[in-house]
Amino acid sequence: MTLQLRVYVPPHPLIKHWLAVARDAATPSVLFRSAMTELGRWLTYEAAREWLPTQEATVQTPLDVSPATLIDPTVPMAVVPILRAGLGLLEGAQTVLPLASIYHLGLVRDEKTLQPSTYLNKLPEKFQPQTRVLVTDPMLATGGSMMHAMAELTQRGIDPALTRIVSVVAAPPALQKLNDAYPGLIVYTATIDATVNNQGFIIPGLGDAGDRIFGT
Ligand code: PRP
Repeated sequence: MTLQLRVYVPPHPLIKHWLAVARDAATPSVLFRSAMTELGRWLTYEAAREWLPTQEATVQTPLDVSPATLIDPTVPMAVVPILRAGLGLLEGAQTVLPLASIYHLGLVRDEKTLQPSTYLNKLPEKFQPQTRVLVTDPMLATGGSMMHAMAELTQRGIDPALTRIVSVVAAPPALQKLNDAYPGLIVYTATIDATVNNQGFIIPGLGDAGDRIFGT
């Protein structure tokens, strides 16, 4: 069986609604941040469905004993927000994954070459085996930033098949690169947009997510 990158665009009205709010150029920064939080929450909820490790148990109800399924607390969970824009999705992701450790990764694209460079790396030297990682970045454009992030993660022991990317707007060049390099990976995004322009912006997209989140 040949593995292929899986990209899920959950057909959920809340995700569609907050995407529309985020796309709208008239949306002010304060509401744009809310949209990112909500998209982070619902896309992480969707990503968690077949990814969160569980264990079977029994619980004593007030009346009887019942079989039960619980989150397995022994499996390490991590969220890696790609700064700056990935921070916008973090708060929502944390409401779904309250026990996850947060490892910040600061990347910035050169405006001309579109090549990413690292200005902050809080990743551990090595992750514990079986660690589940959720990477947040609202924009997958050329894919350079996410490829860079994935390389940093896999060289620290992360299994791409245990990794989930939460994005908002994903474009074909990024998805193609991720598919070629990490075919077991799974992406959750609010939409796939058709084009990346010469300046590296996704069209129609939502503009520069980092600038809109922070009002800078
Ligand atoms: C933007 C965006 C992604 C990246 C996507 O970040 O938030 O991280 O570009 O582009 P790519 O797929 O072509 O690499 P930017 O470098 O503008 O930094 P910011 O998040 O601080 O605004």
